Amino acid sequence: MAEAFNDRSIEGDKASRYALVAQEIAAVLDGESNATARMATVTAMLAATFDHYFWTGFYVVDPAKPNELVVGPYQGTLGCLRIPFGRGVCGAAAQTGLTQVVKDVHAFPGHIACDSRSASEIVVPVRDPEGRLFAVLDVDSDRLAAFDDDDRRGLEQIMRATFARPPGDR
Ligand code: SME
Repeated sequence: MAEAFNDRSIEGDKASRYALVAQEIAAVLDGESNATARMATVTAMLAATFDHYFWTGFYVVDPAKPNELVVGPYQGTLGCLRIPFGRGVCGAAAQTGLTQVVKDVHAFPGHIACDSRSASEIVVPVRDPEGRLFAVLDVDSDRLAAFDDDDRRGLEQIMRATFARPPGDR
């Protein structure tokens, strides 16, 4: 399955590519309940699908420090390890529970620059089947204004389908 996915590129407009990669992610993760395996697979498959992605990864709510995010599985250059709720774009998504679409990160107050090439980003809150926030998905681009409503809808749908539905319901 991984070989079949890695060997081909997904064609079409952005919304249809999100719909297709959502199906592929669900197929690959069928029967796998381990959260690290699920997050790692999502980052690898998304990063391989979209060439406007520069950094793709999860920041997970630290069970030992519930107001702090700690880096999880990611694809890309070295990421920061920890982000307090309320700091930067990831911290804003964690604090508000709302997706953040930032067209120019340098204009975002408190933005945390892990890699100076990041120019725009989207951060989507990730909830478990009980509705509790357990992580955020952070995608950065080296292009300005790379993310729009198609990315928001596509990523929110994939996060719901992958993490918010009970395993038997996926
Ligand atoms: N851009 C994020 C920090 C994480 S890194 O970019 C990988 C932010 O400001 O929340």
